[in-house]
Amino acid sequence: MKLRSIEFALPDPAAAAAFMIDVWGMAPAGMVGGTHYLRGSGTFPYLVALAPAADEFVRSTTFVCDDAELAGLRTRIAHAGWPCRDVISNDLGGGQGLIVELPEGEILRFLAGTAEVAPIEGRDLPVKLTHVVFNSIDAEASGHAVEQVLGFRVSDRTKGMVFVRCNDSHHSTAFARAGIASLNHVAFEMADLDAVMRGIGRMRDHRHAPAWGPGRHGPGANVYAYYIAPFGPVIEFSTAVEKVPADYRTGEPDDWTWPPNRIDQWGISDKDFAGLRAAEERFKFKREWDAQAPAG
Ligand SMILES: [Fe+2]
Repeated sequence: MKLRSIEFALPDPAAAAAFMIDVWGMAPAGMVGGTHYLRGSGTFPYLVALAPAADEFVRSTTFVCDDAELAGLRTRIAHAGWPCRDVISNDLGGGQGLIVELPEGEILRFLAGTAEVAPIEGRDLPVKLTHVVFNSIDAEASGHAVEQVLGFRVSDRTKGMVFVRCNDSHHSTAFARAGIASLNHVAFEMADLDAVMRGIGRMRDHRHAPAWGPGRHGPGANVYAYYIAPFGPVIEFSTAVEKVPADYRTGEPDDWTWPPNRIDQWGISDKDFAGLRAAEERFKFKREWDAQAPAG
């Protein structure tokens, strides 16, 4: 199972796409029916979809998997009674599978049979998404729910987050202990540390300063720089998060404490807590489809 893409709806997708291409550094992957698709250098046909809508929300976060994983998901989701339906993707790469609403409203889509594309050159392109993080009212319950129903695994718990993996990457998603349900941020995996730092430089050329970073996180050990995108959401340049073994010991908040005046490994950057929080509250989730009756 791999995290592939996030699908946004918003009033001005053209402006958002222009920023993500011209400033953030993605490549256009095509436009279908008003939806702008943006890709990185890797083999996924797109990482971000931007569709026109009257209001702004996250339509889905998409994972790709195989038929056996899909069958397991189908059974467990039906047993849990989560709103769900079969879906054939009209997005680039096609595929078919399930779309499901988690208990706090997050919409996840699981697709099998998706097409991939040839990688493209571009040392400043993101390679792929490395994680999509959600704000949660009850992050602990969300972590347990995705373990039981989706087969994900909690990698670490900190004072602020429950980090969750769906393969050997330390986390592909996480639930922030935020008191609200919304999109926390989307992290783009850059080729290496220099690509993250050049991204910061590119943003600076356009008068964008990081809302947090650069720094190096504790859990996942990735180098990060967070920004508030002009169209709303919090986006992150990141190096790859570390790989963990299947028997990785789940860390607890007491395993992840910082000395005074530190919230990351380096301690070189300030964090705009208020600005980030406001941005994190903008994109919520909206189910645009009717659930099917549970299969059994
Ligand atoms: Fe992140």
